[in-house]
Amino acid sequence: MNNVLIGRKKEKEDLLDLFHSGRAEFITIYGRRRVGKTFLVNSLFADTYAFKATAVLDSDKQRQLRVFAGALQEYGSEDKSAITDWFAAFDCLRALLESARMRRKSCFWMRCPGLIPKALNLSRRWSTFGTAGHPRVTTSC
Ligand SMILES: Nc1ncnc2c1ncn2[C@@H]1O[C@H](COP(=O)(O)OP(=O)(O)OP(=O)(O)O)[C@@H](O)[C@H]1O
Ligand SMILES: [Mg+2]
Repeated sequence: MNNVLIGRKKEKEDLLDLFHSGRAEFITIYGRRRVGKTFLVNSLFADTYAFKATAVLDSDKQRQLRVFAGALQEYGSEDKSAITDWFAAFDCLRALLESARMRRKSCFWMRCPGLIPKALNLSRRWSTFGTAGHPRVTTSC
């Protein structure tokens, strides 16, 4: 299969401008299924991910938290404490992103509405992470 990104000139320019804006940015990408949201973000930013999480479709909170914990481990989290709620999950993520060896610049959340409860107000929560210096771009699809 061909992995070259076709077209999407305007979308690419917009995303790269945000990536190089010098500030923390929170980007939401939406569109119908299989239109190319994930492919676009991976094509531009896969090399820069400090963290990537993908929700399980139609799954409950415990399962989403387990998936999130797995992604934390995969990206190098050394925190072995149980992640029992979203606040603990974000504490772990903050520690991961602030760890000295973490030099990467972007985060990617896939199927975000299924993953993170609305009540957590992810974009607002993320602005405090951004002002702490990491990550530069957070993308959710
Ligand atoms: N701009 C593009 N250039 C080349 N191939 C593309 C492009 N956009 C999408 N594709 C192809 O279409 C497939 C589906 O795209 P993708 O998985 O990114 O869709 P999606 O919008 O994230 O879907 P979902 O809503 O199901 O998550 C990709 O794996 C890729 O093969
Ligand atoms: Mg997708």
